[in-house]
Amino acid sequence: MEGKVVEVQAAWREGAHVDDAQYRALYEASVSDPDAFWGEHGKRIDWMTPFTKVKNTSFEPGRVSIKWFEDGKTNVAYNCIDRHLETRGDQTAIIWEGDNPDESKHITYRELHAQVCRMANVLRNRGVSKGDRVTLYMPMIPEAAYAMLACARLGAIHAIVFGGFSPDSLASRIQGCTSKVVITADEGLRGGRKVPLKANVDAAIKRIGTDLVEHVIVVRRTGGSVEMEPGRDVYYDEAAEQVTDHCPAEPVEAEHPLFILYTSGSTGQPKGVVHTTGGYLVYAAMTHQYVFDYREGDVYWCTADVGWVTGHSYIVYGPLANGAITLMFEGIPTYPSTSRFWEVVDKHKVNIFYTAPTAIRSLMGGGEGPVKKTSRASLRVLGSVGEPINPEAWEWYYNVVGDKRCPIVDTWWQTETGGILISPLPGATALKPGSATRPFFGVKPEMVDAEGKVLQGPCEGNLCIADSWPGQMRTVYGDHERFEQTYFSTYPGKYFTGDGARRDADGYYWITGRVDDVINVSGHRMGTAEVESSLVAHPKVAEAAVVGYPHAVKGQGIYAYVTLNDGEEGDDALRKELVVWVRKDIGPIASPDLIQFAPGLPKTRSGKIMRRILRKIAEDDFGALGDTSTLAEPAVVEDLIENRQNRP
Ligand code: WTA
Repeated sequence: MEGKVVEVQAAWREGAHVDDAQYRALYEASVSDPDAFWGEHGKRIDWMTPFTKVKNTSFEPGRVSIKWFEDGKTNVAYNCIDRHLETRGDQTAIIWEGDNPDESKHITYRELHAQVCRMANVLRNRGVSKGDRVTLYMPMIPEAAYAMLACARLGAIHAIVFGGFSPDSLASRIQGCTSKVVITADEGLRGGRKVPLKANVDAAIKRIGTDLVEHVIVVRRTGGSVEMEPGRDVYYDEAAEQVTDHCPAEPVEAEHPLFILYTSGSTGQPKGVVHTTGGYLVYAAMTHQYVFDYREGDVYWCTADVGWVTGHSYIVYGPLANGAITLMFEGIPTYPSTSRFWEVVDKHKVNIFYTAPTAIRSLMGGGEGPVKKTSRASLRVLGSVGEPINPEAWEWYYNVVGDKRCPIVDTWWQTETGGILISPLPGATALKPGSATRPFFGVKPEMVDAEGKVLQGPCEGNLCIADSWPGQMRTVYGDHERFEQTYFSTYPGKYFTGDGARRDADGYYWITGRVDDVINVSGHRMGTAEVESSLVAHPKVAEAAVVGYPHAVKGQGIYAYVTLNDGEEGDDALRKELVVWVRKDIGPIASPDLIQFAPGLPKTRSGKIMRRILRKIAEDDFGALGDTSTLAEPAVVEDLIENRQNRP
């Protein structure tokens, strides 16, 4: 095999779901006859009305339509809870580990059932029924999972907004899907610091006006004092006392929406990605089982936040559908110390650990000491997600955290894909540091060049997927045309991921990062257009262009070129002011790392900003700017280079 290879160890193969030969056979079957393959695996969940049709999908321009198991009926909460009660009612479903290391609890499947039913009844009493949208703006507490499952139980559609988003971002997402009900907490708690969630909800509603949101349900987390609007706001514990813990699960069509999740793209405002019921759950559960080689009784921990897709598919839905023990962590990797992750692993005897490269890189800086003082003997599989993992971070994760005992599954996927599309399988796939390796069952990656020509063999190009898989997003909420435009028009007939990749001689995929105007900051997706529109809304700013640049810990940092209005002075005070402005407008994850004040931006004669040049300068790689002859004013480039902000 080509490049550095870490062979499958005998111990990884022992008891694993599949070895290499089985992977190859299953993969071949899955792509040669998807109907037969998914017809069989679709039965891994319980159906109230069994499906008779399996796949009905088209990527054809103008007629994109994706349906799986369409005549079946089921309920996601039933599959994640009720069907386990008989066999594992007293087994732990969720281990919750608080921000404070002295706080943790185990919630059994039976308790989960009671809690979810209560939450569902609280929602139902407030008029929530099938198809209604409910916005969740929650910290990482069990009630976040109860709320998701309560919506699913009623057939309501949840739309989670990450707790790090600003009131303005929250407001536009509440409006985007017209939620009449918002579930939040008084305050969140992260790294010992309080996050004013309820106050942010109040500010968001103030911006929206009073005629949309009818109910705000507030879970008490810190007990901090918050304003409560009579008639609109209610504390969850008080509302829950008024209802029973019995609530039937509503059977819904396989294609009934389960959730909406807003995600950034290369243009415009974030899109509401819609995932539906049957195919999504089958895919999330199956990938969770095979990719992490999940086995009965394993303790599984994904460190993501439920505000992102990883939290949806791999903290809540996939694991619970499999009857797993899933750990939910409220805190951060560095509190109260940089040993926290590994202390939690020892405390709860975690077998499978799934995190983001940015967390690994931030902990690498502290050396091996904080890791090595813990045992980590329970660990069997390590996972990575959210951005390319650089080989140095991979090696540290493998050698230091995993003591060379645990395979690393580098899982490539997206909010849009619902579940993991490219990843090693622990008992089957020889690893290469930095490669997401091979496609999961049913996934047909296709590499194309800029003109859309399909490339064969080893190559570098744009990553597309040639055919549908059950976990795929179905539409953009309220805007099917935007769905077709964004994903199916660049290379007609294919789903375009927006990622670039390399395929090596062994057929392994190496994701090189986004080829569009999306940047990935600490594993969080950000559209450069969103940051630009926030900057230009500042009264002193005339124009702004935002690009990503390599950042040692975050993967990519945000580099903003800003042109000021006539007469304004660009200085450090204004830099700070602009950072605060963007944080307040979008949220802390969008804070520019570097701001360069520029008298002008490089544009073509037709007025298009030449981002290629801006990226090169931000990367401190201005020796190779390429062709600048089409620039309207070549002199601006010299000024940009002269005053560049990213200097070693
Ligand atoms: C990037 C997160 C390389 C990629 C699940 C993708 C990755 C975007 C990997 C989606 C990986 C995710 N290797 N790049 N293992 N995983 N990405 O929607 O650019 O938040 O398009 O979904 O993250 O980010 P999203």
